[in-house]
Amino acid sequence: MAKAAFRRQSTTGSVGETAKPDAFPAVDAELKTGVEQGGEAVIAVRDVRSRNVRLSVEYVRLRPGSWGAVKDDIQRLESLCFNPERRFGNVRLKSIYADPYAVNLVAKVDGRIVGYVHGGPLESPHFRDLEGVTADSNYGKYNTYYGGGVAVDPAYQGLGISKFLHDESLKIIKTSAGPTRKTYEYKSGRTERGTPTNRFFRRKGAVFRTIPGRHSKTKDDMEYYSLPLNRV
Ligand SMILES: CC(C)(COP(=O)(O)OP(=O)(O)OC[C@H]1O[C@@H](n2cnc3c(N)ncnc32)[C@H](O)[C@@H]1OP(=O)(O)O)[C@@H](O)C(=O)NCCC(=O)NCCS
Repeated sequence: MAKAAFRRQSTTGSVGETAKPDAFPAVDAELKTGVEQGGEAVIAVRDVRSRNVRLSVEYVRLRPGSWGAVKDDIQRLESLCFNPERRFGNVRLKSIYADPYAVNLVAKVDGRIVGYVHGGPLESPHFRDLEGVTADSNYGKYNTYYGGGVAVDPAYQGLGISKFLHDESLKIIKTSAGPTRKTYEYKSGRTERGTPTNRFFRRKGAVFRTIPGRHSKTKDDMEYYSLPLNRV
């Protein structure tokens, strides 16, 4: 990944900042004061072919505090791609996009966001209450990055956008640290069985555990995965 400078630099809340293991003071402070730093860094630009039309897809990493700039696109994608019961909603999303330890990437076509992948430390306030998170054997060790979600606009699906977003975010996560400055050893998340995301992490060598009765459409099981990052 090319090291690109963020387009707008911030003065606080940088990744890797020291914090107590049991708290996310920087996140809390950002949420309280509504600090909006924003800014983004271009990771890559790749051409893809869709119905014989060549599209240029720009992959971008967002700075914490970018919510104001991206919220319309992210909310639109969440509504397009997830049933209401699977949506995070405004409050949780805003918290994820304010988190200084998040690795939030988006894909843009013609300046418009057509895909996203987001997440953060497993113990983050915005993930703690999700099914399976506190049951993760690594919960509380601050060695795990939780993949909050991935979505690609249906008009751009099947072009490899989510695969590229995942691969790039894995590269960043492997060398990143959460609030205790400990480099991540695992990535975890919830997926529905048989989906591209589930297949992606299965192929990477993740270990899966079943969470009963959580599939929004079919009522099949959700699966919680844990991927040792030294395998990718
Ligand atoms: C899941 C989702 C993010 C996949 O996004 P995507 O960009 O279409 O995914 P990709 O194109 O990277 O890959 C999807 C599949 O298409 C295949 N593919 C990629 N490029 C392709 C191409 N040019 N032609 C045909 N197939 C292609 C990939 O090999 C992959 O197959 P696999 O499932 O066997 O791995 C998208 O379908 C979505 O937003 N779904 C709704 C939300 C959701 O369920 N999110 C996941 C749970 S958090």
